[in-house]
This record gives sequence, C-alpha cells and structure tokens, in this order.
Amino acid sequence: MKFSLKSKKISQLEVDTLNLFLWEDEEIEKYKEFPGELLLYIKDAVKRENFNQDRDEVLLLSSKGIISAYKLIITGLGKKKDFDRGILAEQVAKSIRKSKENKAVKIGIVLADDWCDLFGIKNSVQTIVEAVSLADYRFLKYKSEEEKNKIRMLEEVILSLPFASLSQAEEGIREGQIMSKATLFARDLINEPPQVTTPTYLAQEAMKIGKNSNGLVKVTILEKEEIEKLGMNSFLGVARGSDEQPKFIILKYRPARPRKKLAVIGKGITFDTGGLSLKTAEYMETMKLDMSGAAAILGIFSAISSFKPNAEVTGLIPACENMPSGRALKPGDILRAMNGKTIEVINTDAEGRLTLADALSYAVKKEKPDEIIDLATLTGACMVALGQDIAGMFGNDDKLLKTFTKISLETGDKVWQLPLEKGYKDLIKSHIADVRNIATTKYGGAITASLFLEEFVDNTSWIHLDIAGPAYMEKDTPLIPAGGAGFGVRLILHYLNSL
Ligand code: BES
Ligand code: ZN
Ligand code: ZN
Repeated sequence: MKFSLKSKKISQLEVDTLNLFLWEDEEIEKYKEFPGELLLYIKDAVKRENFNQDRDEVLLLSSKGIISAYKLIITGLGKKKDFDRGILAEQVAKSIRKSKENKAVKIGIVLADDWCDLFGIKNSVQTIVEAVSLADYRFLKYKSEEEKNKIRMLEEVILSLPFASLSQAEEGIREGQIMSKATLFARDLINEPPQVTTPTYLAQEAMKIGKNSNGLVKVTILEKEEIEKLGMNSFLGVARGSDEQPKFIILKYRPARPRKKLAVIGKGITFDTGGLSLKTAEYMETMKLDMSGAAAILGIFSAISSFKPNAEVTGLIPACENMPSGRALKPGDILRAMNGKTIEVINTDAEGRLTLADALSYAVKKEKPDEIIDLATLTGACMVALGQDIAGMFGNDDKLLKTFTKISLETGDKVWQLPLEKGYKDLIKSHIADVRNIATTKYGGAITASLFLEEFVDNTSWIHLDIAGPAYMEKDTPLIPAGGAGFGVRLILHYLNSL
C-alpha cells in the first residue's frame, strides 16, 4: 500500500471513497470547498439517516458525480472533549472498514485542522497511517488463491492535509509505516500455526532480524546445554515435556552513547497445553497465542535499527512449548531458578512465570539494566479483571508506571495499572520451597502472578504487562482482524523513541 500527501482541493481527488470525519456537533459546511449542491445533498442525507456523528456511526453516500470521488464516507468522531489519538485511530479504522466493504482500493482521507492542532501534524499523520495499515491487514497465507483474490487490499491512500507542512507529514508517514510494519510482523508470528512457530522458528526469525539490521542488532541463541550451565532450571522444567528444543533468544541493540540500559522480555510459550495440569479443549483452542510477548519483542527489534533510539536495549525470549509427556514437569516438583530461589510447582499450567523467573534473573544478573519491561500472556485472571482490550500493568517504579500510562494513550495500546499488593505475598509462600507457582487462593490471580515475578527482579525498576486479553482478538475489530494483535510493539517503540 502506498501513502501519498496532497494539499490540492478535496473535490478534485480521484478516489473510490473520500473519507471525512465530523465531531458530534459539527456541520458538513466545515468542508467549505464542496459545491453547495453537494453540501445540501449531504445535509439532507444526514437528517434522513438520523446520523448523529456518534463514534459508532459511519455514513456511506454517493458523491452524485459532483466531485471526483466515487463515494463519500462520513465517520462520526463523538464528543471533542473525549478525543485522543487512540480514538482517532479507531475511527479511521472504522471508516477504512467501510471503504473496504465497498471494494475501495484507492482512498482519500481528509485530515481536519483541529486534529493537527491537538496532536501536531506529524503525530496526526502517523496515527492515521498506523490505523489504516493495521485495519487493512489480513493473514491470508493459508487461503487458496481464489479466496485471496476475493479479498481486496488497499492500493493507495491519499492524505489530504489542511495546510502545507509536508516535511512533518512525511516524517509521520515514515514513522507510521515502520511502526505498523513491526506490529504486523508480530501479528504474522502469532497467527502462524503452532506447528510452524516453534522455539527453533522464533530463534531463526531473531537471527534474520540480526542479519537485516545493518549490524545494529546482535543476536545470540542459547541452546539447552548453555541454558543448563546458567542454572535456568525453572525455564528448563517447563521445556522438559516437549520434543521441541528450548531456545533462549538474546537480541542486543547498542547505540554509540546510550542514555539508559533496558531489558525487554517476552513470554515465548509457543504452545500452552497446560502440561500435566492439562487445559480443557476449549481453553487450549487459542493457546498458540502464548508467544505473543515474544512476538512483540521480535516486532520491536525488527524496527529498532530504523528508529535508532538512544537507549541500549536487550531483548530476551525464553522460548519453549508446555507439553504433557512422560518427561514432563509434575505438580509437586521443586525447581531452582537462576537466582537461586526454589519454586514449588503446584500447577504446571502456571508455566509462563516459571520461564520468566529465569529470564528476569538473567536480565538482573547478566545485563544489570536500569529498567526491565516484560510482556506476557500470563493470566486468564487479568482478562477477567480488564477484559479483552486492556493489558494489566504492574511495577515497582511510580515514575515509569506514569510514563507508560501516558504513552499508552498516545499509541492506543491500552494499559491499566493494577496493584502489586504486598499483603498478598503470603499467598505465594511455600511450605517446602521459597515460593509456590500459584497462590493458595483463586482470587486476584493477575496480582499474585506479578508478585511471583517480583521475586526475580531484585531492586531493578520493572514493569510487567499482562497482555493475556489484548494479545489476541477472538473476533474481528476495526483495528485488528480475529487473531494476533501485535500488542505492545508500538507501546514499547514509542517509549524507546521518547528516551
Ligand atoms: N497462557 C495462560 C494464560 C492465558 C489465558 C493467556 C487465556 C491468554 C488467554 C497461562 O499460562 C495460564 O495458563 N495461566 C493460568 C494460571 C493458573 C493456573 C494459576 C490461568 O490463567 O488459568
Ligand atoms: Zn499455562
Ligand atoms: Zn501460558
């Protein structure tokens, strides 16, 4: 798909659909240059269709041949006071969906000057470019040619600017395209079936990222023997039941003068059966998604050499499968993690925290970063708390938590802070080891999982994102078709770019 910028008259844009946007209380006369005849026709249609310009309303109209566009799509923006970049992205995505339902391949999007006032030109353009690319995405690899041909992808999107500040807008297009490409790469990895996306496959994808980075990203893959030598017995405990070899994937990006040193960690369970604490068929259906944290890390590193942020960043992925077998980890087993703490395994389905225990220990011991950020599809409990769209955020550094809350609003990757309640620490104490891998209660599962992780971060500033909900959409949404979401890629990249 190609993006281009035009500041010429919107009446003259030769497109399949011209996509306009209106706040709840705005009149179509805002588009001053439309001929009076067209304005009258639109006003009449708005009235007849009882179009209130709410955020869930999209109006499709013929252009009556009065202007060069074939059809008009007007999307409501709701109340101006509620507006933010996430909402802009969502409304653009809804309007793009409507264009595609009408078989449009060439679209004109008219940017309003008030968006540019609110967010700046670069940011407005970037948000739109990301929204269009994310909404256009489909995972079609396993469909027949015939099916593929039926689905039309966008060919050209013309952004019509309210004023001529091309350089900023061009920067917005550039950054938006890198962000969305990285996000879509993560989506592809999640959507690939689990027989393809094995730990070995993730390692190969990491190697490819290293090769394509102009020497800016160094990738190391630790094999089982090296993982053993490091004492990552908790991670290896999970890997034990599977015929697939575990891989500990390390990606390193280092600028000339880094301002900070970060470690980003992604849960990389390429399939979660639950192990001997086997999941039911229904809960297992989507468990290829359990490497979404790893996919986010790979997405981030696929873009890092284009953005060249001012921080040193190490990406860590403990990748393995969680399978039941004659060799599998058993409830009652005790594992010693790399930091020396012993873990009583009560439930083998709480495996993510076992793999992360060693990844966090590795980060603290070997990398000594200023900050650690981990992304993990960790608990169903977090989905119960926050639903499908919002990640749970935990951490031990208030300033960093605040920064993430702010960046979340800018990117549309939604997060909400939950408490790391010290009073619940007792719930993960074991009679026989230092900690147990599930709490003694069924309540507050996202919190007790985070408290477990905290045992392995020492005093390092740390953010844990439980992405079990937003990692994967069970049905189509405006910005994400059913399947992998690529959650976290833009959130973390925006954070890195802000340093
Ligand atoms: N991968 C799952 C969490 C999950 C559930 C992610 C649904 C996405 C959607 C995780 O490994 C798991 O099984 N967690 C258990 C923990 C329990 C045994 C304490 C859960 O949430 O049920
Ligand atoms: Zn599990
Ligand atoms: Zn899992």
